[in-house]
Amino acid sequence: MPEWLKDAVFYEIYPQSFYDSDGDGIGDLQGIIQKLDYVRSLGCNALWLNPVFDSPFLDGGYDVRDYRKIAERYGTDEDMKQLLERAHQMGMHVLLDLVPGHTSDQHPWFLESSKAEENEYSGRYIWTSHAFEGIAGHPYISGMKERAGAYMLNFFASQPALNYGWLNRTESWMSAVDSPEALATREAMKEVMRYWLEFGCDGFRVDMADSLVKNDDENKSATAAIWRDIRNMLDREYPEAALVSEWSNPVQAVNGGGFHMDFYLDHHHNGYNTLLRDYETEGGDHSFFLKEGRGDIMRFLNDWLPKYHAVRENGYISMFTCNHDTPRPARTLSEREMKLFYGFLLTMPGVPFFYYGDEIGMKYLDVRTKEGGYQRTGSRTPMQWDSSKNHGFSVSDNPYLPTDPAPSAPTVQDQLEKKDSLLHAVRDLTRIRHTYPRLQADGPFEVLHAMPHQFPFVYARGEMIIAVNPSGDTAEVPLECDAEAVYMIGECRIAGNRLRIPEQSFIILQNKAG
Ligand code: NOJ
Repeated sequence: MPEWLKDAVFYEIYPQSFYDSDGDGIGDLQGIIQKLDYVRSLGCNALWLNPVFDSPFLDGGYDVRDYRKIAERYGTDEDMKQLLERAHQMGMHVLLDLVPGHTSDQHPWFLESSKAEENEYSGRYIWTSHAFEGIAGHPYISGMKERAGAYMLNFFASQPALNYGWLNRTESWMSAVDSPEALATREAMKEVMRYWLEFGCDGFRVDMADSLVKNDDENKSATAAIWRDIRNMLDREYPEAALVSEWSNPVQAVNGGGFHMDFYLDHHHNGYNTLLRDYETEGGDHSFFLKEGRGDIMRFLNDWLPKYHAVRENGYISMFTCNHDTPRPARTLSEREMKLFYGFLLTMPGVPFFYYGDEIGMKYLDVRTKEGGYQRTGSRTPMQWDSSKNHGFSVSDNPYLPTDPAPSAPTVQDQLEKKDSLLHAVRDLTRIRHTYPRLQADGPFEVLHAMPHQFPFVYARGEMIIAVNPSGDTAEVPLECDAEAVYMIGECRIAGNRLRIPEQSFIILQNKAG
């Protein structure tokens, strides 16, 4: 387990939307370099960069055309070298985005694979034997290529599925997981990883990590076995490199696949969803962090706690403010509600991730789709730095996407000036997390007070005690300890072995006896 993950607080950067250093309207690597001091000042000490590789950008870069080439619009190898060096000098680690399940249909492997004549890449993707033979239960395309056969899609139409084999082989064209062609795909992906690790990155966020083996069993054990093999390679060759999976099943990903951490994604009605994106519940939004107080922390705990206990010896569950696929928290949460949520996020076990702009409460915007974003585009608009043109993102007349046109659009500049801003709360909270090791990824966790449909929620991280009351009513709980407040949102009070926590408040205490 890489030691540095214990105290890591990540910042996810969607490169095209962060900072445009050369005025062409698109964010770039030099732009990220120029803003590293800002990211560090938030208390974030690790970055996840969404794909920065050569691509036709039909899915925001998740359609990779060349795994080893930086997309021209972002810069050069030299820029990436500088970014990594500068980040490392500042004590930061950088994860790149690995897309192992599919490539762009313009990737040279796929161009070769599409040829009628058999060649080295014929088995690199999943093809049926005949143009008139489809793939039951999976999306596929037929009739577009010289090669007779349908090819399977892993996501959009431009993203053919790489071939890691099938566990349950029902057709003759389905490769076995240990067939030469499936093993060749796996080895090719390992080479891509080695390439960037040698280059200087610190690991990978892995896209659709659970998607490799088709017709896998219900535990995804064949896909997990591939990742276990890859983890063994890392342990031998790059023991400090970290892997985080887009899987959202930590038992499979961490215990099975050997991932160091797994994202707790926003899936309808899972525990994470009930905290702040419970939009679709019958009778309205019952998110725990809404002031309406209709939430129920048990919906979160019943889902998260067993998973936490199941994986805690092996790795982490990563919660985030949002990501490039998910509506921003500010879509439904007020600034105060976000503060409380961030207080929770930064005092929970596991490795937390901030999505760029959430530290200032950037809005989810109603904008036209861009590069395969569709409804996700609203969370991908440019970072709002200040009140200048394009909110300081770019001097171009044609920015990648518009910024928030509202007069009240949050900016970094404004929030730096306001002492009680969301941005300052984030800075305070990350500083506290870095100061008290018990609050970090593998510190202990214990529920002290959690009742269905009641507030507050109180939990201990060793000698640290955290209480949060997102509701609009004052709450009180017994608290039998000699505790001192380390940080507060709202006027919380301890008197006579009771904690009084007013509406929409949060407190971190240190138990002096413990
Ligand atoms: C998940 C990524 O987060 C998303 O943005 C992308 O469209 C799909 N995987 C396909 O790669």
